[in-house]
Amino acid sequence: MNARLKHQIAAYWNTRCRSYSNGTGGFGPEERAVWWDELTIIVTGDTHLRVLDTGTGLGFLALLFAEQGHQVTGLDIAPGMLRGACRNADDLGVSTAFVCGDAEHLPFKAHTFDLVISKYLLWTLPSPDRVLES
Ligand SMILES: C[S@@+](CC[C@H](N)C(=O)[O-])C[C@H]1O[C@@H](n2cnc3c(N)ncnc32)[C@H](O)[C@@H]1O
Repeated sequence: MNARLKHQIAAYWNTRCRSYSNGTGGFGPEERAVWWDELTIIVTGDTHLRVLDTGTGLGFLALLFAEQGHQVTGLDIAPGMLRGACRNADDLGVSTAFVCGDAEHLPFKAHTFDLVISKYLLWTLPSPDRVLES
C-alpha cells in the first residue's frame, strides 16, 4: 500500500473527527447500553484483558472496554480522531492508551494483546485481509 494513499485516508478521517459520531447513535446512552450488554456476554470471567481497538476513532469500543476494567489501547491512523478519543476518555474518567498507527502494520510485538477488536474499520481499508492476517 503506498504511503500517499495512506496519507489521504488519514487526512480524510482527520476532517471527519468533528462531525463523526461513531456511525449511528454516537455516545448516546441507549446505544452504549446495548453494546455494554453485548460485551459483557462476549467477554466473561477475566476482567483484566489487554485489549487493542484498531481504528478506534473517537474511542467508542475502547472506552466501553476500559469502563469494564480492561487494559485498553486504541489505535488509529488519524491524529484528529485520537485527540477526540482522549477527550472522551477524560470525560468518562477512564484510563486508556491511544496510539497513532496503521492497523495494516501494527506497531506492537506479537502477544502484546489478549483481544483485538474493531468496529467499522474493515470497510474503510484498501486491504482488509492484511489486517485480519496481522
Ligand atoms: C468508520 S470510523 C470507525 C471508528 C470507530 N471504530 C467507531 O466504531 O466509531 C473508521 C476509523 O478507522 C480509522 N482508520 C482508517 N484506516 C486506518 C488504518 N489503516 N489504521 C488505523 N486506523 C484506520 C479512521 O481514522 C477512523 O477513525
